[in-house]
Amino acid sequence: MVAEVINGKELSTKLKEEMKQEVDLLRKQNLVPHLTVVLVGNNPASRSYVNGKKRASEEVGISSEIIELPETVSEEELLDVIDKLNNEDAVHGILVQLPLPKQITVAHIIEAIDPRKDVDGFHPINIGKMMTGQDTLLPCTPYGILTMLHSKNISIEGKHAVVIGRSNIVGKPVGQLLLNENATVTYCHSRTKNLKELTKQADILVVAVGRPNVINEEYIKSGAVVIDVGINRLEDGTLTGDVDFQSAMKKASYITPVPRGVGPMTITSLLHNTIKAAKGLIK
Ligand code: GUN
Repeated sequence: MVAEVINGKELSTKLKEEMKQEVDLLRKQNLVPHLTVVLVGNNPASRSYVNGKKRASEEVGISSEIIELPETVSEEELLDVIDKLNNEDAVHGILVQLPLPKQITVAHIIEAIDPRKDVDGFHPINIGKMMTGQDTLLPCTPYGILTMLHSKNISIEGKHAVVIGRSNIVGKPVGQLLLNENATVTYCHSRTKNLKELTKQADILVVAVGRPNVINEEYIKSGAVVIDVGINRLEDGTLTGDVDFQSAMKKASYITPVPRGVGPMTITSLLHNTIKAAKGLIK
């Protein structure tokens, strides 16, 4: 078997065109969706992600701004900024780029964001709604992964989904979204024994480890769908995922590449959430 590649870049371009039409209509009704991104400090990777989010927003007509704060900002000062944004009617989406410097407790910041403006889907209220199957703002990478599966009409119900990684941003919520669609979900992580035995049972294998080449054909059941969430920069500067792509291609039915896989879909989900928030659909 040679896997079909799910091209996240192409899907993202198509979805952005659809969103642009929707935003054009909203603008005609004087509703301009607006995303405010808060960037603390000078982490080059964070800066590059934030610039990508701003660029993609502008492509679809969402207005966006980046508020830059120094590495030394106090938790109180950051909470003040969030409070102002919460009370600003023209701001529909608030995203505080992570990681944050160590003087700031991430949970305090996430919990301070108005859940209706939490376009990252990280607020405990939104996570609780997701867990109970209610409509809400969903975490962007997991939502993007589900969108990719839906785009290929890959059936989820009754399938065994194995998720490697248990982060709050990707692993835990992607497992929950798959469960919401009636998959049987197994979580694996750094303390998991017999990883290969478990991954070989997966109909859908989501790999979110953050290390290159942790999964190859030996870990994959023939015909499985393989979703690679990793973005690893090698010493020579090239980007690679967590999966040995060439090897996994031989066993999988579908596979996502890196780059041009899950990454572009994360940003697409953010735009989708911002439009949803602007329309006042989150109560
Ligand atoms: N840092 C890495 N990924 C993310 C994300 O999805 N949202 C935010 N806010 N920060 C991140």
